[in-house]
Amino acid sequence: MRKAHKRGKSNNSLTVTAPAKINLFLEVLGKRPDGYHELETVMQEIDLADTLTLETTEGGMELTCSEPGVPCDESNLVWKAVRLFQEETGVRGGVKAHLVKRIPVAAGLGGGSSDAAAALKGLNILHAKGLSDATLMGMAAQIGSDVPFFIKGGTALCRGRGEAVTPLAVRHRFWYVLLYPDIRVSTAEVYNNLRIDLTTEKKDASLTYKALLSNSGKRLSLSLFNRLEEVALRLYPELQGFKNLLESNLSDGVMISGSGSAIFGHCENKDKGEKVRGKLQEQGVEKTFVVSNL
Ligand code: C5P
Repeated sequence: MRKAHKRGKSNNSLTVTAPAKINLFLEVLGKRPDGYHELETVMQEIDLADTLTLETTEGGMELTCSEPGVPCDESNLVWKAVRLFQEETGVRGGVKAHLVKRIPVAAGLGGGSSDAAAALKGLNILHAKGLSDATLMGMAAQIGSDVPFFIKGGTALCRGRGEAVTPLAVRHRFWYVLLYPDIRVSTAEVYNNLRIDLTTEKKDASLTYKALLSNSGKRLSLSLFNRLEEVALRLYPELQGFKNLLESNLSDGVMISGSGSAIFGHCENKDKGEKVRGKLQEQGVEKTFVVSNL
């Protein structure tokens, strides 16, 4: 069992791991009256993670980040999570939060959502509130569609806006090469440009979760699907070159994660992944990672 948090010496601080996710399957079932889209998606946490350190103080809210481009104000989902936790539980006092960012931002890897989930989980421990996962997931859904998934993490089938989470008991270790093309994609823009064709047959996630549960990497790579990929490629045509590059180095399935821009491909093992990573770096792609599921 992985340890996802560590107490500080003073007992009033805690460091929480906030892993990234990839979408192995994502189908859009329709548009909802609230403006969101009804989804069926299989999300999987991977071992590329931010770390969030939280400290309770006498002052107000303070947020710092290792990455200068990340806003450290109330627009940051960690800030929203802290405020919501305080409102919902009635705990008072200040919080000093520091985020060490490793997950590329605006990449379809759920970094900001995972950071927010880490804040909720961390405060629940620091304040010894003992709130259940279900309660934390209810708060998480108010912050963003992907946030509830990260409360339990692992691998899950997610429906609704993404907040209706059914965990999948995946025992096998799958390996992936992940490429970040250094392009920031707006999730809202991708959804806004999605053309929902009612005549197109909808894909269902069963091939993907059966492949995961039967430990078959080959079947998994054949089942990868993302309805948002075509939109991301249309809006950000530069992504196609990166996808081709990864495909030319990997025989298995290659796909954009979520709304992009990160692109991943399944590979048989870590060694194979490292070789591909080496080749991509020779070809001038700097931000590549070899990752596996948690
Ligand atoms: O929920 P979250 O704030 O992360 O979503 C970001 C944007 O993505 C939303 O404003 C919406 O435009 C779009 N979205 C959607 N349907 C979903 C999830 C997100 O349309 N199920």
